[in-house]
Amino acid sequence: MIKKNRYWKNKRVLVTGYEGFLGSNLTRTLLNCGADIVGIDIVKNRPKSVLNGLRNKIKCIKGDISDFGLVKSVINKHKPRVIFHLAAEAIVGKSNKDPIKTFKSNIEGTWNILEACRDKKFIEAIVSASSDKAYGIHKVLPYKENASLKGSHPYDASKSCADILCYTYWNTYGVPVCVTRCGNLYGAGDFNFSRIVPDAINCSLKGRQFKIRSDGKFTRDYVYVEDAVNGYMLLAEKMKKLKLYGEAFNFSDENPITVIDVVERIYKLTGRKPSYKILNQAQYEIKHQYLCSGKARKILGWKPEYTLDEGMRKTIEWYEK
Ligand SMILES: NC(=O)c1ccc[n+]([C@@H]2O[C@H](COP(=O)([O-])OP(=O)(O)OC[C@H]3O[C@@H](n4cnc5c(N)ncnc54)[C@H](O)[C@@H]3O)[C@@H](O)[C@H]2O)c1
Repeated sequence: MIKKNRYWKNKRVLVTGYEGFLGSNLTRTLLNCGADIVGIDIVKNRPKSVLNGLRNKIKCIKGDISDFGLVKSVINKHKPRVIFHLAAEAIVGKSNKDPIKTFKSNIEGTWNILEACRDKKFIEAIVSASSDKAYGIHKVLPYKENASLKGSHPYDASKSCADILCYTYWNTYGVPVCVTRCGNLYGAGDFNFSRIVPDAINCSLKGRQFKIRSDGKFTRDYVYVEDAVNGYMLLAEKMKKLKLYGEAFNFSDENPITVIDVVERIYKLTGRKPSYKILNQAQYEIKHQYLCSGKARKILGWKPEYTLDEGMRKTIEWYEK
């Protein structure tokens, strides 16, 4: 549960991708903290969202962040003090199928936000969603923030590029931006059923067999969405005071587990016997990736409030409803 901080009271905040999984959870929490929210998303009124019943409290703008004119006019008109830039093509499989669309949304979309903010003195913090995937493949685990960014598949490369652009706009123009690099997020409101957690919960609740695309031994770490929201908000709150501009922060539960372990855990938590088939068809995916969150713990005072089992229980309850 996020402590209400006066920092957010009546604060004008722009959330790009507010209709998405992370964006909707973040927007809901910001509303609870009293923020005045403008949201941009290419989709409007996503059904069954955690924002249902709350959209009348948000200025919802339907639009594409790769349209510089739109981004500029929204920022000029609404003058946000804080921007959470989350809009992106966030599904690896879709990025592989249509890399150009991904590069437009993820790279051009990010430079549009940064460029539109270049000379805006009213902006005090921009938090841009990078990803653990921005690192690409490294032999040294867990990944720390100083690891080089060398994504080498479309989604991963788009995140490496956008991440470098954020640093560039800080370093060259003083745009007040930080990036987050999260492990796999899970929780209420994720309707991307190609992702392991929603897919496995759906299969398990419906008594179906889950298909594991990889050999099941790939390792990842996970973050419950409320913990991620907390990390994003803490970073925005502390960025100016602690002079963190230009910095990157990892957020994860530092508890890497294999795909088979996640699936078995989900089936057990729903009271079912684990049932999965290993397809061994995963392409262009990093085999072992997990993050060190020591920097966020030390500098931001962040820590995950939910263990994987606690977070999964809450997530399953939400999908059941
Ligand atoms: N979910 C994860 O595990 C995870 C992990 C690390 C980083 N991230 C990053 O966090 C951010 C949010 O991810 P998510 O899981 O909420 O994804 P999501 O797909 O649920 O949400 C992304 C939102 O962006 C919107 N969008 C996409 N392209 C757009 C465009 N061109 N213009 C305007 N809106 C556009 C989509 O409609 C969607 O609502 C993304 O930047 C993602 O890359 C996610």
